[in-house]
Amino acid sequence: MLFLFILIVSQIAFFSRSASATPPLSFPLTKVDFRTAASRGSYDTASTLKRQDLTNVPVTNLNYFQYVMYVGVGVPPTYYSLVVDTGSSITFVGTGKPYNRTSTSIATGQNLEVTYDLGYLAGPEYSDTITLSPDLVITNQSIGDAVTYTDWPGVDGVLGIGPVDLTVGSSSPNITSLVPTVMDNAREQGLIQQQIMGVSFAPASTDNEPNGLITFGGINSSLFIGNITYVPITSTYPAAFSWGINITSCVYGETTIFSTSTAGIVDTGTSLVALADDFFATYMAAIPGSYYDNQTTFVIPSSSIANMQPLNFTIGSTVFTMDVAAQLIPVDQDSAWGDDPGVQYGTIGPLGHLSGQGLDFILGQKFLEIYYAVFDGENNRVGLAYTNHTPPLPEASGALSNTFGFYLLALLSMITQAYTLQFLS
Ligand SMILES: *[C@@H]1O[C@H](CO)[C@@H](O)[C@H](O)[C@H]1NC(C)=O
Ligand SMILES: *[C@@H]1O[C@H](CO)[C@@H](O)[C@H](O)[C@H]1NC(C)=O
Ligand SMILES: *[C@@H]1O[C@H](CO)[C@@H](O)[C@H](O)[C@H]1NC(C)=O
Ligand SMILES: *[C@@H]1O[C@H](CO)[C@@H](O)[C@H](O)[C@H]1NC(C)=O
Ligand SMILES: *[C@@H]1O[C@H](CO)[C@@H](O)[C@H](O)[C@H]1NC(C)=O
Ligand SMILES: *[C@@H]1O[C@H](CO)[C@@H](O)[C@H](O)[C@H]1NC(C)=O
Ligand SMILES: *[C@@H]1O[C@H](CO)[C@@H](O)[C@H](O)[C@H]1NC(C)=O
Ligand SMILES: *[C@@H]1O[C@H](CO)[C@@H](O)[C@H](O)[C@H]1NC(C)=O
Repeated sequence: MLFLFILIVSQIAFFSRSASATPPLSFPLTKVDFRTAASRGSYDTASTLKRQDLTNVPVTNLNYFQYVMYVGVGVPPTYYSLVVDTGSSITFVGTGKPYNRTSTSIATGQNLEVTYDLGYLAGPEYSDTITLSPDLVITNQSIGDAVTYTDWPGVDGVLGIGPVDLTVGSSSPNITSLVPTVMDNAREQGLIQQQIMGVSFAPASTDNEPNGLITFGGINSSLFIGNITYVPITSTYPAAFSWGINITSCVYGETTIFSTSTAGIVDTGTSLVALADDFFATYMAAIPGSYYDNQTTFVIPSSSIANMQPLNFTIGSTVFTMDVAAQLIPVDQDSAWGDDPGVQYGTIGPLGHLSGQGLDFILGQKFLEIYYAVFDGENNRVGLAYTNHTPPLPEASGALSNTFGFYLLALLSMITQAYTLQFLS
């Protein structure tokens, strides 16, 4: 079992085509120069607008730890189950069901490769038609035929819905070109009016539950409560390349995890909530008897649960709380994930590096299942809002009023199966 930190694009992808899964600890700021031309969504307002409506596309929680969308590729479309990933920006098909070329599938002569925090996908680039919904059929979309990959069972690839900035260095032989994303093309082709995406996830109570909705072109106000708190994309690298934000403080009960502005990302492709190792150590130390087991799982003694405290993130001027239940993996799911039965595991994990050496946090699915998220490429900002699944205040009804069964584990057994890259000389 491994923490599922798969779909954060690894920093190494920007300057190396190596399949190494080890990200570097420093980041060349010179790379900023590539990005000045392409913001997340500066578009010619004169471009033709064909549609006014938002397009809501359902997503399914698969195995409790990843959200997939059924995406058609080609004409007529073959449907693939693709992981929805705001942490990367290239779309790949073929890791499960092979890429089925049709008359719309045109090889571009380029190859695509993305190294994720855990694993990689690589293969020849095609231009093809992709169908996200009957209202959202995007032509001339770059996709990668995943010929070489780190396998992960049950899905056919990735729908990369991160900023176009993350595509730099993903293609070769022309390694510096930006690769227009699904959102770029939808906007350019007038299928959406604004490059804005609303993400509604919910705690899954059964495997394979269609409990999410992604809104392309704006926000669906029936999916959140109250006002959206918007914060600008952080200026701190490497989070600035992705959907990165600052959190101004993080407290666990009365214990300060950090109290200065700290940068990380909001990522639909990461299962857990992850903190830089020093932050995680402070959190762990505040939970008596808890320990990090064999570099994969965070174990919390059952005797410590009653005294656990909310974990609060201040973003903008709003506090986003993960209550105690949201910090715990349901014990009755242990065996489903291949964990030791009866052991209490946690949903907060370490990133594998100290703060200041990369991303300092990732707000992944366990956070997004209780808060609505807006990825706003028009205004280069991220919005967060309360939902029906946001935990009640601890004093209101008790921190443990939510059943553990709603809060899910972020573990995945990955089998690394690298296939020979035939098409590269
Ligand atoms: C591939 O696409 C064709 C249509 O072009 C379709 O008839 C065929 O069933 C598809 N194959 C698979 C395996 O989906
Ligand atoms: C790479 O870029 C050059 C210069 O823009 C262009 O002539 C060539 O066609 C490109 N190659 C591919 C495979 O796109
Ligand atoms: C298709 O997209 C590529 C960029 O990915 C662009 O260079 C090309 O002009 C587009 N072709 C058409 C017909 O729109
Ligand atoms: C918002 O989502 C709901 C489904 O929860 C859907 O019925 C409704 O049409 C959507 N609203 C808009 C404006 O797209
Ligand atoms: C929501 O925003 C409006 C306009 O800025 C403000 O008047 C209102 O007080 C806000 N409501 C809450 C609950 O913060
Ligand atoms: C984010 O935090 C950094 C310090 O960590 C600060 O320099 C920056 O101004 C903050 N705000 C933004 C939008 O990046
Ligand atoms: C630790 O993890 C490794 C690799 O997954 C495994 O082979 C080993 O048995 C584990 N050790 C314990 C004590 O669980
Ligand atoms: C954490 O958030 C909860 C819920 O909003 C609140 O009741 C609690 O006072 C907060 N804790 C701190 C230390 O701010």
